[in-house]
Amino acid sequence: MISTAKRLEGIGEYYFSTKLREIDALNSQGKQIINLGIGSPDMPPHPDVIKTLQEESAKPNVHAYQNYKGSPILRKAIAEWYKRWYDVTLHPDTEILPLIGSKEGIMHICMTYINEGDNVYVPNPGYPTYSSAAKLAGGNIVSYALEEKNNWLPDFEALKQTIIHKDGRSALFFVNYPHMPTGQLASKEFFEKLIAFAKENNLLIIHDNPYSFILNDNPMSILSIEGAKEVALELNSLSKSQNMAGWRLGMLCGAKERIDEVLKFKSNMDSGMFLPVQLAAAKALSLNKDWYDSVNNIYRQRREKVFELLELLQCNFSKSQAGMFVWAAIPPTYSDGYALSDEVLYNANVFITPGGIFGKAGDKYIRVSLCCTEEKIQESIERVKASLNRKN
Ligand SMILES: Cc1ncc(COP(=O)(O)O)c(C=O)c1O
Repeated sequence: MISTAKRLEGIGEYYFSTKLREIDALNSQGKQIINLGIGSPDMPPHPDVIKTLQEESAKPNVHAYQNYKGSPILRKAIAEWYKRWYDVTLHPDTEILPLIGSKEGIMHICMTYINEGDNVYVPNPGYPTYSSAAKLAGGNIVSYALEEKNNWLPDFEALKQTIIHKDGRSALFFVNYPHMPTGQLASKEFFEKLIAFAKENNLLIIHDNPYSFILNDNPMSILSIEGAKEVALELNSLSKSQNMAGWRLGMLCGAKERIDEVLKFKSNMDSGMFLPVQLAAAKALSLNKDWYDSVNNIYRQRREKVFELLELLQCNFSKSQAGMFVWAAIPPTYSDGYALSDEVLYNANVFITPGGIFGKAGDKYIRVSLCCTEEKIQESIERVKASLNRKN
């Protein structure tokens, strides 16, 4: 009899992994489900990025194992990108670690800093990987509530009571603004408060920042706050803003000591990334404002349609959310977001993510992705209208 490790206890398969199987089964019955669930950009990267990959991969000398710390060309491009858009100075040799996506970076960080039973602070609602990676590393999850009445920002006074350090060790504290799933932005003042809070409470802040360029005019890095490198690391990604989710490219930025600590773990896990992919990523990071504007113009138009869909469903929502989703409160006629999501899936053949998968605090919400064409969103509106007419 084969036994799995204890660390897998209490870890379920990723929600979307099982849900997509259910959607596939419905599609195989001819349902043609429109998927407004997952945040995977449906548009391609800039043509110059693809051209770089094609040209570089045709060369004979690019197929070997690569540097564990990433190509110097990519690290330099990341440093320039951080300077240009966030006004943050990073040393390309010591303060940047390219990643195979920020999701893997979350795991590396957890394995680097968590001892069995250490408290790890994660937002509720929040990206589910923070909890699952921390649990796999042996951490004790302390979820901190984000509430609409506090603009989805943590309540520092309430939080203070929950901070417990095992053996006087620092504790990990995950944060993510623009926040997924609520689309909430954070101000510079908030980040300043957070850095001060981390210093007072011996926390290592992990700021996850993949959405700063999507429907947001003012991209911000936590590392732009004075003294941030002493207590914070930042994860970033090319998945969303460069339309490169499937390419698997992310980065970790912060103090040299932290980067060296994480590299100690990561260099034992993988053997670098395909060089042409890294060079194409460097190209993507050099793109001008026109690129971000073109992507955002499309998301903005889609978002108008999504607002229409949500009004039809009698949901309440803010129109000033950042990122590639719209987060909305469900009407009181539904017990929770799962009930609304199932009704729309089974009666209108449209999939919308229930907010509860991001934590208990998301139970009364749903999240609609903008990674679907305007035509498909319009068709979703027609389908939902027809299903509501049948219901009434
Ligand atoms: C908040 C957040 N962090 C990280 C990720 C993972 O991004 P990557 O593709 O860089 O692994 C996602 C992807 O959905 C996300 O929503």
